[in-house]
Amino acid sequence: MSITGKTVVVVGGSRGIGAEFVRQFAAKGNAVIAACRQPSQAKEVQGIDGVKLTTCDISSPQSVERWAAEVKEATSHVDYVINNAGIYGRRVGLTDVTAEDMLATFTTNCIGPLLVVQQLHKQGLLGGKQQTVVASVTSKVGSVADNQSGGGYAYRASKSALNIVNKSLSIDLADRNVVCTLLHPGYVVTDMTGGKGLIDKQTSVSGMIGVLEDGAAGKLPLQGTWHDYKKETVPW
Ligand SMILES: NC(=O)c1ccc[n+]([C@@H]2O[C@H](COP(=O)([O-])OP(=O)(O)OC[C@H]3O[C@@H](n4cnc5c(N)ncnc54)[C@H](OP(=O)(O)O)[C@@H]3O)[C@@H](O)[C@H]2O)c1
Repeated sequence: MSITGKTVVVVGGSRGIGAEFVRQFAAKGNAVIAACRQPSQAKEVQGIDGVKLTTCDISSPQSVERWAAEVKEATSHVDYVINNAGIYGRRVGLTDVTAEDMLATFTTNCIGPLLVVQQLHKQGLLGGKQQTVVASVTSKVGSVADNQSGGGYAYRASKSALNIVNKSLSIDLADRNVVCTLLHPGYVVTDMTGGKGLIDKQTSVSGMIGVLEDGAAGKLPLQGTWHDYKKETVPW
């Protein structure tokens, strides 16, 4: 079941996986609102038909609040929220990781996505008569069960925290007809990975949209679940 004719918000839509979400959702005939820290720098998604660029820095509560009001001016309902913005932070191990590393990553990867949902909800843009699906882009690196190699303290912890935030959102917003799910993109060639990876962003994003489309068709449960781009369940 193709997702088309919907209003889709992509947070962190300027580059990488987020920009690819913007392109693929627009190509399927959806109205896309891309949230970027600096729309003027978001060259990859400028000038695409059906795409509106908005300004949002998810590490700033004031910015998220202002942005949600901007989204409200553009639409009365959001069908899909792709909570994609994220940072890896400094690549340091046990000896060098600092409190600042932990907090900076937590601020963007866990608090930011929560504030995005909170503020869109406060604006009355989620759920109600029409369902909303909130898909937060987490990482298997945040899986406790999957951690075989240690390290990555700040990033791992921030994504594990995002996962439990998503679980609470899935419970708290269920009555509002809002479905909250987690997506793992795979190991994808982007700026974040320094150009390394096992798959390209096209493959990753078409796979993750496939998860959402299977969810829309009732073939995959999305509420409170976690799937990778291959539609496999990821262990917590
Ligand atoms: N690549 C992978 O292998 C991989 C694997 C697992 C999970 N992920 C997750 O997938 C998501 C996208 O990653 P990526 O690989 O595409 O990374 P990327 O190429 O570094 O892109 C990150 C995106 O997030 C945005 N962003 C960062 N901080 C932001 C903030 N405070 N406010 C608003 N936007 C912000 C960036 O915007 P600017 O252009 O303004 O910096 C950019 O659009 C992340 O959540 C990441 O953790 C990636």
